[in-house]
Amino acid sequence: MTQSQNADLIAWQDRAGAEQELFELLRIPSVSADPAHVGDMARAAEFLRSKLQALGFTARVDPTGGHPVVYAERLEAPGKPTVLIYGHYDVQPEAPLDEWETPPFEPTVREGRIYARGATDDKGQAYAHVRGVELLLRAGPLPVNVKFLLEGEEEVGSPNLEAYLRDHADELRADVIVISDGSRFAPDVPTVTYGLRGLSYVEIHVQGASRDLHSGSYGGAAPNPINALCEIIARLKDDQGRVTIPGFYDGVEELTPEEREMWAGLPHSDEAFAASIGVSDLPGEQGYSTLERLWARPTLDVNGIWGGYQGEGSKTVIPAKAGAKVSMRLVPGQDPERITRLVQAYVPTLAPRGVQVEVKALHGGQPVKVDLDSPFVKAADRALRRVYGKPAAFARTGGSIPIVAAFRQILGAPVLLVDFGLNEDAPHSPNESFALEDYHNGILTSAFLLQEIGK
Ligand code: BES
Ligand code: MN
Ligand code: MN
Repeated sequence: MTQSQNADLIAWQDRAGAEQELFELLRIPSVSADPAHVGDMARAAEFLRSKLQALGFTARVDPTGGHPVVYAERLEAPGKPTVLIYGHYDVQPEAPLDEWETPPFEPTVREGRIYARGATDDKGQAYAHVRGVELLLRAGPLPVNVKFLLEGEEEVGSPNLEAYLRDHADELRADVIVISDGSRFAPDVPTVTYGLRGLSYVEIHVQGASRDLHSGSYGGAAPNPINALCEIIARLKDDQGRVTIPGFYDGVEELTPEEREMWAGLPHSDEAFAASIGVSDLPGEQGYSTLERLWARPTLDVNGIWGGYQGEGSKTVIPAKAGAKVSMRLVPGQDPERITRLVQAYVPTLAPRGVQVEVKALHGGQPVKVDLDSPFVKAADRALRRVYGKPAAFARTGGSIPIVAAFRQILGAPVLLVDFGLNEDAPHSPNESFALEDYHNGILTSAFLLQEIGK
């Protein structure tokens, strides 16, 4: 691509307009997990539909068993590939609210970053594609056929999207599915992401006595479900940081020496990584580097725990029940349903005497690996070079996008993961943000990528 073709599109960029529109979307509190926000979900979907319609797309809001899907298409490049752009307009809950410096649904720019829930995950990254297409349309006809699929349930495990994909498989047919819903390797490293971890998410419920008990009258004799839960959790990993569930590692794909070498060459420092999250050490599975632990090794983490008295001061009580939410990140070779069954079979066998233990499955997702030899990966590399003036790094990520595996299975199309965000954007945390520069570079990357795929 010549310098002048780059310059044309750059000159056509309307930064202020792109920012104002994204802010409008960010002001809608589309929290999929909270039933109080159903109306906001519908508003966010309609916002996207009407924007895409204004761009000349045939655009609809389709109801599902849960929150709606926005579907739009503009198929005016006969003989050219069809690109399906996937993103999600739902966001994580804003809690804990009092840790936000400015309100989560009042987007605010500080030091070049947009602060808002959803700024990077995924409204900002998804909207970069909307504006990328708009940019191309200012310059002329689209170089490829474009479809948008924007869902409202990613953050709750996409429970209705698979059925939607099956019902609309013909309409959604594409040569490649482009997704920007993760993090670049580092600020100065344009990245093509080629792996996502899978997920199995369960709740452990421990029941003791039939009511809360006086801890003096009963302590020492009655079973304590919180103590029991802690014993169970403590036994789920050994002193080498390995998960103890029998069969958990069966089938796990080992890293190739080439991959290990490629990752060892990425600019990573354990010290800087630890410092970036305010810790002094990085415990984890022995025998693997930090990047290997994050991208290629499965793991188990408690995400939440409850039971007993949480209020001010003390209350002497042995609670009747306790529980924990546990996520297991999975890697290629592991199947989420199988892992969930293993956990459901094993955890109750760890129950100390006198308590009942039950494991409830919440949701899961398959791990994903993208073939780096694909022409679409090469197109992404060229597009990123045009934006950043340097070649892309190929990295995996530890996060999960459960629907991605279904794209391949049901639609039969490869995915291309080109992430615009950064881990330091703090998705899911208070003060989530997205650098304005990353947003605008994302818009350019989207436009250049569609051009490169069209060549
Ligand atoms: N955008 C993330 C996935 C992600 C996170 C990719 C970090 C790369 C790096 C997505 O919105 C997400 O949060 N996924 C959930 C899955 C879920 C709620 C079923 C996740 O990974 O926890
Ligand atoms: Mn996301
Ligand atoms: Mn997310």
